[in-house]
Formats: sequence, structure tokens, C-alpha cells
Amino acid sequence: MNTRVEAALNDQIHKEGYSSQFYLAMASWAENHGLSGTAQFLYSHSDEERFHMLKLIKFVNERGGKAMIQAIEQPPIEFKDLENVFEQLLNHELMVTDSINNLVDICLQEKDYTTHNFVQWYVSEQLEEEALARTILDKLKLIDGDKGGLYMFDRDLLKMITTRANSTPADSKAQ
Ligand code: FEO
Repeated sequence: MNTRVEAALNDQIHKEGYSSQFYLAMASWAENHGLSGTAQFLYSHSDEERFHMLKLIKFVNERGGKAMIQAIEQPPIEFKDLENVFEQLLNHELMVTDSINNLVDICLQEKDYTTHNFVQWYVSEQLEEEALARTILDKLKLIDGDKGGLYMFDRDLLKMITTRANSTPADSKAQ
């Protein structure tokens, strides 16, 4: 495997691993603040990020590279409020999108078209995740801290897990 591509994929493995821990920290915060629907949504999102990491690990190893499992830094424990949780989530996803785009660039520079093809799944996934984070954040801005609104929001997020599970590409659940 091309060493530059391998290094970029390993960097992405680390980022997806951190994403999973970051959303796990958010889920735990939500659970401790009585937001059980939001907590379930974020636990499920954390699982998805772990799946993103595993898919990369398997790809690197299957192509003759060596996947590196690195230490993951401590994510934040406290969040100002729910809006702040999803602001951080969106900003994090934007950073991940930049990183995926960078990976695409490297694949093209190194003429690694197989990896380029593999990474397209992540390009689509990032589009979906950014759109979802923006929708959630827009809802929270509308609610503007209203208690009744937050109660409904929390219930709605539970429904979103089911909708997403049904619309996620089949291979994302199978591997
Ligand atoms: Fe796997 Fe949400 O980035």
C-alpha cells in the first residue's frame, strides 16, 4: 500500500475513534441531564463512528497495509447546554469532512484509485451527517431553551434514530 495513503488512512482511523469517544461523552452528559432521547441518539451516533473506524481498519489491513490503533485523547466532559453540544458536533463533523477531502486529494495525487473509490462512501456519509447536525441545530435555535420545546425535541431525536437506521446504506450495518 502507498505509504502516504496508508498514513492518511491511519490518521482518519484516529479521527473516527475520537469522534466515537466525543459523541459518547455527549451521550453521557445528555443522560445525566435527563435527556434520554438525546442520549440514545448520541450513543447510536457514537456506535456509527466506531463503525466508520472499523471499516477503515479492515480496509487498510486487507490491502496489505498496517492499521495503527492509537491512543485517544480525553473528550470534554461538560457542555454549556444542549445547543452547545450540537454546535460542537457540527464543528467536529466539518473538521472530519475537511479530513476526508484531504484523503481524497492524497489518493488522486498518488493515483490510488482503489482507495479513492473506497473513500467515496465517507464523502457521502459526511454530507448526510453535516445535514443532520444542521437540522438539529436549527431546531434547537427555534426552541431557544423553552422547556416544553426541549421535551418534544428529546422525544423527536429517538424517532430520528429509527429513521436513520432504515436509511443508512446496508453495508454500514453489515460489517
Ligand atoms: Fe465518521 Fe461523523 O464522521
